[in-house]
Amino acid sequence: MLLEKLSSLRESMGWVYGSEDLCVLLYSLVKRTRPRIVVELGTGFGVTAAWMAGALRENGSGVIHTYDNGSHFSSEPGIRFVEGLQGPLADSLREMGQDYPAFLQHVFQWAGVENHVVANWQEIGFAEIAQAPAFDGGIDMVFSDFNHSQDSIQALLAAFLPRMAESASIFIDSASTQRLSYLTLEAVVDALNQNKIPRAFIKDRSEQDIDALLRMVQRSRFRLMHLLEACDRAQNSTAWISIEPVDVIPTAATFLH
Ligand SMILES: C[S@@+](CC[C@H](N)C(=O)[O-])C[C@H]1O[C@@H](n2cnc3c(N)ncnc32)[C@H](O)[C@@H]1O
Repeated sequence: MLLEKLSSLRESMGWVYGSEDLCVLLYSLVKRTRPRIVVELGTGFGVTAAWMAGALRENGSGVIHTYDNGSHFSSEPGIRFVEGLQGPLADSLREMGQDYPAFLQHVFQWAGVENHVVANWQEIGFAEIAQAPAFDGGIDMVFSDFNHSQDSIQALLAAFLPRMAESASIFIDSASTQRLSYLTLEAVVDALNQNKIPRAFIKDRSEQDIDALLRMVQRSRFRLMHLLEACDRAQNSTAWISIEPVDVIPTAATFLH
């Protein structure tokens, strides 16, 4: 039933942001790695959030905190998209008119994932979100899907790295197939693995923040993977930064004797 509903959301709305396959990949990764805290930057119409929340529901625990200022929802193309919606939810969603929080709440409730998702209707500020007390125990997974410019990538990593759990993942949509973003990611991850912190990460930061970042970088290993989509469209990749504690065996793994 849950998968049927998620599939229906994927079919009716997944194509808008090209996340038809990514939502399934994120669902699988959430099922496998069982994160407790997931942060999504850019909710859109809620498709990727619903799939990740569905995986958390099946895991029996975990919450995804998703953020969006509703700018696309209330734009001309966003309004046209909702007007032309097809599928079981179309009529009830159209009745919501311009009420973005109500739209998202309805989507999550209909899918049955509302207990595993917190939707925040606000402007995305990396530092402010990363510092939220709800994340004091560490963030296990970040999915950034609203801006993949080189400046945004640096600001995201500077704010979130010190707040990540020991084993964690950061996904940045579309960054791997934009030349400057790709080069920025390669250079930053290379520097971090040599225990070097790019200057942009520590600019205007307190001594305490810099210390936290330094400790995190020293105890971690970073792996960068470019997940490419064999699809000729404007945004066809996702960058995946996997963070692991420096150790000789994967910490989360259980080996058979
Ligand atoms: C690509 S969509 C997210 C799609 C969604 N993750 C999915 O695949 O189902 C990006 C969203 O980011 C939001 N957005 C763009 N700039 C923003 C900002 N500065 N603060 C908050 N939200 C923003 C837009 O309103 C849009 O809904």
